[in-house]
Amino acid sequence: MRKPLKRLQPALPAAWYRDQGHYERELQRIWYRNWIAAGREEQIPQPGDWRVVRIGTQPIILTRDRSGAIRAFHNVCRHRGSLLCTEEQGRFARHRIVCPYHGWAYDLEGALIATPRRMETPDFDRSDFPLHRVATQCWGGFVFVRLEGLRKFDLGALPARFRNHRLETLRTGKRIVAEVKANWKLLAENFSECLHCPPVHPELCRVVTAYREAGAWGLRGKETIPEYKAGAQTLTLDGSARIPPFAGLDEIDRNTLYVPWMLPPNLFLNVQPDYVNAHLMLPTGPDSVRIVYDWLFEPEHMPKGEDLEHYTALWETTNAQDARNCEWQQQGLQSGAFRRGVYVPQEFDCHRFAQWVRSSLRKSLPR
Ligand code: FES
Ligand SMILES: [Fe+2]
Repeated sequence: MRKPLKRLQPALPAAWYRDQGHYERELQRIWYRNWIAAGREEQIPQPGDWRVVRIGTQPIILTRDRSGAIRAFHNVCRHRGSLLCTEEQGRFARHRIVCPYHGWAYDLEGALIATPRRMETPDFDRSDFPLHRVATQCWGGFVFVRLEGLRKFDLGALPARFRNHRLETLRTGKRIVAEVKANWKLLAENFSECLHCPPVHPELCRVVTAYREAGAWGLRGKETIPEYKAGAQTLTLDGSARIPPFAGLDEIDRNTLYVPWMLPPNLFLNVQPDYVNAHLMLPTGPDSVRIVYDWLFEPEHMPKGEDLEHYTALWETTNAQDARNCEWQQQGLQSGAFRRGVYVPQEFDCHRFAQWVRSSLRKSLPR
């Protein structure tokens, strides 16, 4: 159980949520050096399938090589720097990555294999020009990339916590992509506290009844309100389930209707016994993010039609409420009168997140 804060803690400076220079420092220190969730493995099921993701200003190609392994490359040709993939997704014909400018071609492992019409010179060696690789790892069906450095792939307690849920077996039943006009840290802080739940999320509070009480997320033991609505089986608008719980769950997992989990900086999971609502967030500027919301189900129990809506309505509503509030907060943070906020006791996870941001940036602050 997490402990509430004993005293107020200073929030991050307001300028860090709007300043272009600070945003670029965060890209370098946080977004390009950490393992960043970039998508679901199921989005590139076959060798040669590809899609582009943008981490800050960096376009990255995710693909599968001929052995079926996931690979990632910077989306830039080694000849003179053209983009290679100019659309969002597709399949490489004949398993060749062909530059649209002068036609240099690479295989799915990134080796340069053809340079059409180039006049031979003695100093040219194709092996000098492979694509720039990006490190990849997979967990739970998510693909992670790391652009720079050697940071280990360490997800902390996440894999053990959801081992029984076998997230890698789940498939997407619904996806919503949203452009939200707010700094990425506001979304992370918003996910880290439920003090805002009573005023902002009436639907969520009807099923997670404990949230009616001062947003007491993580502070179990002294609430007078039961944790969930009586008879609730999962997080839907009325708390009813229409598909069975995940096959691997034990009794405790089945009775734990909701576990939120944030893997900073950009993967947020809302885990229920029979589905997961995942948020994958990537910054598009100092005051904007793109969020991919996925609803994940066991393929053999994938709900359809009205049953699918039954499962998506609660988080669709709740996520839109959060996005709207973060946009209002971003607008408020433009005020020259506001220098920095505070975290109150229940916002202990915001404080932890802020500490993580500060320590990530510390090395880059002027000495
Ligand atoms: S820039 Fe790609 S082939 Fe010339
Ligand atoms: Fe919220």
